[in-house]
Amino acid sequence: MSRRKKTVKGFRFQPFSLKQKKLLFFWEKGSPFADRDIIIADGAIRSGKTIACICSFLRWSLKHFSGENFILSGKTIGSLKKNVIGPMQQILTAWGIKYEYNRSENFIIIGDNTYYMYDASNEASQDKLQGLTAAGALADEVALFPQNFVDQMIGRCSVDGAKIFMNCNPGSPYHFVKTELIDKAKEKNILYMHFDMDDNLSLSQKVKQRFRRMFSGVFFKRYILGLWVQAEGIIYDMFDEIKHKVKTIERAYKEFYVSCDYGTQNATVFLLWGQFEGKWYLVDEYYYSGRDKGKQKSDPEYYKDLEEFVGERKVKAIVIDPSAASFIALIREKGKFTVRKAKNDVLEGIRNVAAYLTDELLLFNDNCYNTFKEFFSYIWDEKAIQRGEDKPVKIMDHAMDAIRYFVNTILQFNQAAYEKEIYSKGKGVIKPSPYTNKKGGAVF
Ligand SMILES: Nc1ncnc2c1ncn2[C@@H]1O[C@H](COP(=O)(O)OP(=O)(O)OP(=O)(O)O)[C@@H](O)[C@H]1O
Ligand SMILES: [Mg+2]
Repeated sequence: MSRRKKTVKGFRFQPFSLKQKKLLFFWEKGSPFADRDIIIADGAIRSGKTIACICSFLRWSLKHFSGENFILSGKTIGSLKKNVIGPMQQILTAWGIKYEYNRSENFIIIGDNTYYMYDASNEASQDKLQGLTAAGALADEVALFPQNFVDQMIGRCSVDGAKIFMNCNPGSPYHFVKTELIDKAKEKNILYMHFDMDDNLSLSQKVKQRFRRMFSGVFFKRYILGLWVQAEGIIYDMFDEIKHKVKTIERAYKEFYVSCDYGTQNATVFLLWGQFEGKWYLVDEYYYSGRDKGKQKSDPEYYKDLEEFVGERKVKAIVIDPSAASFIALIREKGKFTVRKAKNDVLEGIRNVAAYLTDELLLFNDNCYNTFKEFFSYIWDEKAIQRGEDKPVKIMDHAMDAIRYFVNTILQFNQAAYEKEIYSKGKGVIKPSPYTNKKGGAVF
């Protein structure tokens, strides 16, 4: 077993909010919710759901079980490690509880319990759960999981007294987490809890304001208000020509990137991005649709167009549609440009582009005619939404894809910077359960 020792800092606890405490102690003897089989915490981003779930799940599992298996699940192993395993190690360190973390086999031993890590990234992910008998599960960002994984996970928790702890940001009102779990909370013996940013006492007013400013439209409703609302109509309804369209003039750009959506039948788009005074400008666009022009172009022809489009500028990387294998190979072969395969999570990408637009950190030169046209025709696919899936209609989405690739791969959301700003130093401790301390009375 690899037991690479890495010093883990103890988690710096700040006081828990009332909502977090309810989640922390709901299973304690004397709580009116002690017999619930599942807890679902949904709501706003950064509202303290994950931390409260981890603390509650750990205390509950260590108090009630020894020698049992538990499930830790996230959309990907990477996001699970970042959002759950990292804080979990810090929390255990702060509590002075020893653990063994097997990084290569993805499990953690705490006391006599084993906590296995699983990704729930696709329909086949559930296979890995088969055969396991678990006494409980922690599912982070469960609205991103396929339904069969969630069903399988619930089925695996068959040990007497097992519980499942889930949290997520809301999605479509037709999403199975909403229709099958939250809406059926009573009949399925689920404790449903809704969080907003005020339920995380560690966020300053300034930071909360900043998060609120970052989102608009359906994203504001989901990620700030924490509501399960339908995405409908225009996707980037925060795009405003008055705010985002600027004159095509010379600027002393500090660095350049090109993002590319590649099509053989469909259009191929190159977008040239330049950074100037902390904002990103779409300097120029290249847009070629073989179908419209009646003639397809070959990869070498596109490469020649790319070189011409870039001109003398020093481009840091070409961020490109990961499925454009032949074109990626050609650019690499020529050796002139660095290629970065784009992160292609559609919803995350749209959310990030929307945040950058809302913050007016993306601006567009007025010569980028096709990009503007797409902004006004890029809409949600209503049929997919009825099935609980949020997807754009895949027509006239080439510049939109290229914007998404750039933002999600190069800019992203700099969580570390935000977090740094959020947390002042200070130590706290978990308060003892209000249920066990107060004679008989339920506090919440
Ligand atoms: N009691 C606490 N003490 C210290 N930090 C806290 C506490 N509760 C939450 N935080 C911090 O606040 C931030 C947001 O909390 P958390 O990750 O639990 O939110 P979330 O609701 O899961 O957000 P998201 O929906 O974005 O995943 C984290 O960095 C977390 O460490
Ligand atoms: Mg979370």
